[in-house]
Parts: sequence; structure tokens; C-alpha cells
Amino acid sequence: MSEVTRRKDEHLDIAISEDVEASAQTTWLEHVHLVHRALPDIDLDEVDTSLEILGKKLKLPILIDSMTGGSERGAKVNEDLASVAAELGIGMGVGSQRAALVDGRLRSTFSVVRDVAPDILVYANIGAQQLAEVGVDGAKACVDMVRADALAVHLNPLQEAVQPEGDPKYRGVLDMIANVVEKVGVPVIVKEVGSGLSREVAALLASVGVRGFDVAGVGGTSWARIESIRSSRSGAPEKARLGESFRDWGIPTAASIIEVRSVTKGLVIASGGIRSGLDVAKSIAIGADAAAMALPALRALSKDGRDGLKALIRSAAEELRLAMFLTGSRSLRELRHARYVLTGELAEWARSVGAI
Ligand SMILES: Cc1cc2nc3c(=O)[nH]c(=O)nc-3n(C[C@H](O)[C@H](O)[C@H](O)COP(=O)(O)O)c2cc1C
Repeated sequence: MSEVTRRKDEHLDIAISEDVEASAQTTWLEHVHLVHRALPDIDLDEVDTSLEILGKKLKLPILIDSMTGGSERGAKVNEDLASVAAELGIGMGVGSQRAALVDGRLRSTFSVVRDVAPDILVYANIGAQQLAEVGVDGAKACVDMVRADALAVHLNPLQEAVQPEGDPKYRGVLDMIANVVEKVGVPVIVKEVGSGLSREVAALLASVGVRGFDVAGVGGTSWARIESIRSSRSGAPEKARLGESFRDWGIPTAASIIEVRSVTKGLVIASGGIRSGLDVAKSIAIGADAAAMALPALRALSKDGRDGLKALIRSAAEELRLAMFLTGSRSLRELRHARYVLTGELAEWARSVGAI
């Protein structure tokens, strides 16, 4: 087993079994209050949660965010995620595909998603820094491997800086993204992995043609925390301490959605600590087009298999529909215009950046 494959499985193990979420920092979605409408003027069964993203029709504005592949175990997870996504009419991302570019035998651990779900929305995945190594051809190979509808390029400077074998080199990354946007042949989405995207970063990326933003803010999975656990297991207490200090670092998800939406009309995906249909509804009201979940999907699958994952998505769908009914929103477009009030720290943040 290669070092990368071993690391991927270690990430899955730690994510499933340890306390890996931000501790003191939340998403701040609790500061978003959708205003209840006692006269919704619609029937609950009129609520329509469907939408189109990146040329694909979805039944729900819910995605399973980029997680895995690159190992036998990852292949099974990808297969299960894809089959549930196909059954429920949602989309998904695969995890970083770099390992399969290095070792072609790992390709099937990603392409399995198309074996079971030929038509769903799928986004490929590669690290922004890795573009230096794999080039445009590598990015195209990632897209081809899963017949992707888009390529997600991830930014993870914090994780690289606290990971025992990390390589925090970000000089020139924007130019590499620009080059890939120009040549890869599918829309490029940029995503964080749990520290959020600011409006400055989103504006820079939009200026080079990036079409979508998956905010992955603070409040959910913390990669500083996951790497800190790995460091302490491997006897590197100083790196472990550094990771722990940055467990809650970044832009809370709700603030990141507001920041990114303030500079783009493109696709905005809310992620990082999205745990319920109410979180999805609030995210859409404040500016997102859809929301993505990573950790809860993995845990539901690991605990109760595909049925567990289906139950998670179905209960999120029910909550979303009810929130839409109670705000008088027949469609997601109407939910985008539902009235809400921001309170507490989120309101202060939004005010300080001139968003309210
Ligand atoms: C086990 C695991 C593996 C992940 N691997 C990747 C990856 O390879 N590429 C990527 O862009 N994001 C990766 N992520 C980050 C997620 O896509 C997402 O941005 C982040 O976990 C926040 O969402 P959550 O709080 O719902 O987990 C991973 C997350 C988890 C839990």
C-alpha cells in the first residue's frame, strides 16, 4: 500500500471515529433567522426543491462533498455514495484524484461512481498546489476518469501547514488555476476544505474565470484537528499542538456564503458544518444555490450503510421542504428571496463588510 493510500484510509478512520469538528466555533447559521410566515399562501405539497446545476437536474439542492477514492475502502465508499445520490437525485464530488494520476491501478476507485451512477452530477477533485505537478493534462485526466461535469480544485493551506508530510507552497497557485480554467474543458469550481473562502479570494478566482465556489467554512470538519490527531499518533507533539491551536481557524460558513455571494453571481455551494435541512434552507436564503455535506454522509454510511445515508438525506429534504413552506417559498428561487434576520456575531460581521 502506498503512503498516499495509507494516509487516505487513516483520514477516513479518524473522521469516522474521532471528534474532528471545530470545537468553539460554529457555522453561525444559528444567527440566521428565517422569518416565519403564518400565511404562506401555498400548500406544502406545492413546494418544489428541484434545480439545475452545471447542466444537471437535481431533485434537491444537496450535494455529497468531495471525500474519497484512492484505496479499496475509498472505492466502496464512493460506490455507495454514488448509488444513493443516483437514487435520491442529488450530486456528489469525489476526493482528491492525485493518487490515481500517480498509480493508474487506483483509477477504478474513482470511476466506480460512473459504473453505478452514469447520469448524476459529479465533480472531479484535485489540490490547487498539485496542479504544478500534474499540469493541465493531469487535471483533464481527473475529469475524464469520472466523466465529470466540473472540476473542483481545493485550497487547503492550513491543512498543508499542519500536516506532518504537508507542503505549504502557495506561490503561483492562482496562475495555475487560471491556466486550468482556460484549458480543462469543463467548468472549474474552487473549494476550501473547512476554513472558508473570503470575498477577496472569490473575487480573484472569479477574475480568472472560476465558475463556482464551494465555501467549506468553519463549523464542521476541521482538517487542522484531523492532522493534529495524526501528528500525535505519530509522535510529533509540536505539530499536534500547532494543529490544535488552529482547530477553529477560518471564516464561519454563514459569513463565507455572504462574503462570496457579495462578489459573484456564479454558483455558490454552502458547506462546512451543514448538518440539517434547516441549515440548507438558511444557506440558500443568505445566498447559496445549494449545500454540501461531507462528514455526516460518511458517518451515516459507516454506521447504517446506504439506508443510513438515505435516511440522512431524506430527513434533510423534509426539513428543507417545511422551511420553504413556512417562508411561503414555492421554489428555491423564492427561498432566495425569503426574509431573514441576522443576529449576533454574524450580523456584526455582515455589517463590518458592508453586506447589510
Ligand atoms: C474524510 C474526508 C475526506 C475529505 N477529502 C477531501 C478531498 O480529498 N478533497 C477535498 O476537496 N475535500 C475533502 N474533504 C473536505 C470536504 O469536501 C468538505 O469541504 C469539508 O469536510 C467540510 O464539510 P463537512 O463539515 O460537512 O465535513 C474531505 C472531508 C472528509 C470528512
